Amino acid sequence: MIRRLVVAAAFCAGFASLAGVTTVVAQSNPIAERQQLMKNLSQAARAPGGMLKGEVPFDLAAVQTTLKTFADVATKAPALFPDNSKTGNDTAALPKVWTDKADFNGLWTKFEKDAVAAQASIKDEASFKAAFPVLMRSCGGCHEGYRAKKG
Ligand code: HEC
Repeated sequence: MIRRLVVAAAFCAGFASLAGVTTVVAQSNPIAERQQLMKNLSQAARAPGGMLKGEVPFDLAAVQTTLKTFADVATKAPALFPDNSKTGNDTAALPKVWTDKADFNGLWTKFEKDAVAAQASIKDEASFKAAFPVLMRSCGGCHEGYRAKKG
């Protein structure tokens, strides 16, 4: 009898925590979150983009901050494409994100590795001009296959 009560109590506790998790997932919106992360990427790329064009003076500290944002976003992004986020919220993610998941996640891993490597290799304006454009090509390289072109 006691044994049965304990099992029932454990079951209830388990169910309650499961219900709690479900609520959290329902409240957060992975599509909005990933779109915000992407906006952060664009924002972070702005200053170095200006430096490449010679419109903004080279600033190593600012470049390093951008590279950290790139690596950070690349680490977080793969988890924000769960199976239940294929539609809604004006998503531009193509079905290929889910049908070619390994390749898609591989592009994030590569982007992260490149951003970390650039943190070490970029030491001055010359090394910045050599390494940064390569990173920027990763944006288009992924969008090409995995993001719908807008209007
Ligand atoms: C490995 C793939 C991948 C990489 C790398 C990547 N993106 Fe994206 N990006 C996407 C996908 C997929 C979407 C569509 C997300 C959605 O709408 O759900 C997107 C959407 C965006 C958006 C639109 C966000 C919005 O407001 O809806 C911007 C801006 C953007 N990316 C900028 C960048 C920049 C800048 C880089 C490089 C520094 C980059 N992305 C690198 C896959 C990638």
